[in-house]
Amino acid sequence: MLVKEDLQEFVQEKLDDYRFVVVSNRQPYEHVYNKGKIECRRPSGGVITALDPVMKACHGLWIAASSGEADHRVTDRFNKIEVPVDNPAYTLKRVWLNKQEEEGYYYGYSNDALWPLCHTAFQRPFFKQEDWQHYINVNQKFANAVMEEIGTAKAFIWIQDYHFCLLPKLLKDMAASNQLIIAHFWHIPWPSYEAFRICPQKNEILEGMLANDMIGFHTHYHCNNFLEVVDRQLESKIDRERFSVIRRDHETLIRPYPISVDFEEINRKAQADNSQKIESDLAEEFHLGNCQILLGVDRIDYTKGIPERLLAIDRLLEKHPELIEKIVFLQVGVLSRIHIAKYKTLNDEINFLVEKINWKYSTDDWSPVIFTRSNMPSSKLLVLYRMAQVCIVSALHDGMNLVAKEYVAAHYDEDGVLVLSQFAGSARELTEAMLINPYDSEQFSDGLYQALTMPEEERRKRMVKMRQTVHENNIFRWAAKFLSGLLKIEFKEQEVMVV
Ligand code: UDP
Ligand code: G6P
Repeated sequence: MLVKEDLQEFVQEKLDDYRFVVVSNRQPYEHVYNKGKIECRRPSGGVITALDPVMKACHGLWIAASSGEADHRVTDRFNKIEVPVDNPAYTLKRVWLNKQEEEGYYYGYSNDALWPLCHTAFQRPFFKQEDWQHYINVNQKFANAVMEEIGTAKAFIWIQDYHFCLLPKLLKDMAASNQLIIAHFWHIPWPSYEAFRICPQKNEILEGMLANDMIGFHTHYHCNNFLEVVDRQLESKIDRERFSVIRRDHETLIRPYPISVDFEEINRKAQADNSQKIESDLAEEFHLGNCQILLGVDRIDYTKGIPERLLAIDRLLEKHPELIEKIVFLQVGVLSRIHIAKYKTLNDEINFLVEKINWKYSTDDWSPVIFTRSNMPSSKLLVLYRMAQVCIVSALHDGMNLVAKEYVAAHYDEDGVLVLSQFAGSARELTEAMLINPYDSEQFSDGLYQALTMPEEERRKRMVKMRQTVHENNIFRWAAKFLSGLLKIEFKEQEVMVV
């Protein structure tokens, strides 16, 4: 197992001459007003969960878009702030976007074009010329922010996700040759050529990305899709031995690195001194009584399979009326990307289903579904994971899904069953989960029943195995493997191809 200190040492040793810079759209901390006071919050999402512990270990600079209405009140004249505010470990630099940029680049091209393009969730992407123009401009704005920070210094730039396909090339064009090492981690699936070829801006996107020295995906399958897309779309050489693309004398390594969580921290926090108190507060807040808890934790996104989950709960209760008043399904759902019509429709659909199921089965003082739309702080969330006998992750398509790994890491009691979609990246590693197909309500509801009735011995056997997997392949190992792959140097266990 690799710990935080190993990563720290590795970065100090190998990247000492380089500024360490992470770029993402979503920032790890945002400042908002709450009852007239400024409050610091952590937005939800996998990129933040994964990269924040890495940055705490590496003490670098993180550049991201501002998202809180009080952000400007706490940053210095260089738009920077040390975070976390209570125990500073790295610098956050905020980039300010105006409303049109946010609309076109974030809601438009990133989340209404690229997001549905890359996920097979049967939602069509919309490619609008004005969104694309904003996407170009915002990528340039981030390139300027990076260069403003590093000047002529050598730097390692670690770009996150689909918001910045053009950034690698913009940076390479602006910097001196050999000044930058640039790598990109793609947190969502990469589609097949058949799906990708509909994108009107496909060449610009690929050319932008191929300025990277390395691109990481969660799975081997996504790497292969990327290579196939490049092969069929651009004049380039694919080196199947080295798993790389060579275009105009520049080589980009393509590698699978399944992302993870800070197992130790989650495991520790889930059993913190105040967890008993949090547990009883949660039981009271959600009227959980003595029911067995099935839990869902998601951004409200059409890729997460939330309606499918509700239909499976409905079917479960239809087939097993003996479970009435014995179980409760608690869905923690954080509102997400609400200015996009598809997300609004999804919210309405979820509300309708929750009401329908509750109307169908509720008794005097029991309802089967509790739906809370709050962004739960991790202290509460981790206790809730531990309280839940079953966690349901039913994504229709997901790059990884860190909720699945957090559930496992929080179960220090080695109990609990993870019901996991076979279409989430995490299903490749967490093979002891109860794997389901969210499109098949019959099989899904049977999986839920099996999870609820699974003998303790089997539950423990599976959970212990999954905990070993997440413990070993924690976020620090992910980062170290990524960086060692990039630097093409030996790192204790050598670069490993993870299939
Ligand atoms: N999350 C959170 N509060 C909530 C709901 C979710 O902090 O109320 C976090 C959750 O713990 C997880 C992340 O948001 O770390 C979601 O990551 P995941 O990879 O599962 O999905 P994404 O939202 O990135 O698609
Ligand atoms: C996914 C994406 C991330 C994004 C997160 C939350 O995990 O891969 O890049 O940050 O969802 O979405 P949001 O749009 O709120 O940042």
